Amino acid sequence: MTYVATRLAAVKPSASMAASMAAKALRATGVDVIDLGLGEPDFPTPAHIADAAHSAARRGDTLYTPAAGTAALRAAVADKFRRENGLDCGPDDVVVANGAKQIIFNALMATLNAGDEAILPAPYFVSYPEMVKLLGGVPVMPVCGADTGFRLTPAQLAASITPRTKWLFLNMPGNPSGAVYSRAELQALGAVLDRHPHVLILSDEIYEHILFDGRSFTSFGAACPQLRDRALIVNGVAKAYAMTGWRIGYAMGPAPLLKAMNTVQSQSVTSVAAPMQAAALAALTGPQDCIASFRAAFERRRDLVVAGINAIPGLTLSPPEGAFYAYIGCAALIGKRSPQGRHLTDDTAIADFLLHEAGVGTVPGAAYGLSPFFRISTATSDAILTDAIARIARAVASLQPEDRK
Ligand SMILES: Cc1ncc(COP(=O)(O)O)c(C=O)c1O
Repeated sequence: MTYVATRLAAVKPSASMAASMAAKALRATGVDVIDLGLGEPDFPTPAHIADAAHSAARRGDTLYTPAAGTAALRAAVADKFRRENGLDCGPDDVVVANGAKQIIFNALMATLNAGDEAILPAPYFVSYPEMVKLLGGVPVMPVCGADTGFRLTPAQLAASITPRTKWLFLNMPGNPSGAVYSRAELQALGAVLDRHPHVLILSDEIYEHILFDGRSFTSFGAACPQLRDRALIVNGVAKAYAMTGWRIGYAMGPAPLLKAMNTVQSQSVTSVAAPMQAAALAALTGPQDCIASFRAAFERRRDLVVAGINAIPGLTLSPPEGAFYAYIGCAALIGKRSPQGRHLTDDTAIADFLLHEAGVGTVPGAAYGLSPFFRISTATSDAILTDAIARIARAVASLQPEDRK
């Protein structure tokens, strides 16, 4: 008896979820483990947002809603795109789904034919290639290393486009690298895309508000207005308002694409839960002060981690420009041997070593398509980060060259 469909054969479960589960499983056996695998803000959702969901449920907002989202939430989303991103947009230009991930899934489900290619600049968010493969597409993953600030160059983009290209994915600030594209860099990519009218663009801007050193954010849609009829601008409330578990994402895009995505939505999950949409409405229309205070905390932690990691011989970290991850270069550890006899042959072995011999859960760079690195989430308290860095420093100092027995 075979339970699993062939289309699932090549698809891996989320690497960050898997790393986090491994850390939790080890902790359940009594081992002292700090889990820096999963990325979610450690702040509580602001009370006025939770209250809005509660009030909605109490007043009877408990029915199915339109597949694209309630009229009120879509108006608020359109207003957000106008207000914060300078995008000319109305309620019919946006859709709401159960998280940015479902937006992306619906978009790929609605558009990919077997063998269509999606360009995913590496390092990429772990779910992109797996969703593409699940839906019959082929990931094309140009490597964007530290030399280009983890950004895709116009030349790399031009070299990656083929007649089968359906999508280019951009993600800024990027998970895991924190890289941000300037308006000029986006326009340079846009100039390449101008020459290839068959390519759609998905710009995942979910970390838009977590931006450091006084940077301001430019949406792909604002940088390249001429590409608006083939750009899907993806965002959500998860990271900006500490709402990962509420599962609300949204997007702005061209009408035929949104219509197809709504067909997928209506035949799969029907709609997003009504009280959750009321919560997202409160997030987008209520007080916005949490955004600045979260950002300040994430920037302070970024500084703490950059200083702490760069003080460890053998590890390197260029300061992330945004988001709440540190993508740590660990090339100098490759080939070393741990006190418990682990051979550090690649970053997967390094993450395993850090989990079992430092007591710190991380995600290996292999999961993001760029090695040798490992990712930690900095969305946890300063005290926990300080402890984790001290553990990593001790463990790295205990490593021996491979040939010393
Ligand atoms: C780049 C990126 N996009 C999307 C998501 C998921 O967003 P949501 O929780 O709204 O589905 C994540 C979560 O880690 C992410 O890093």
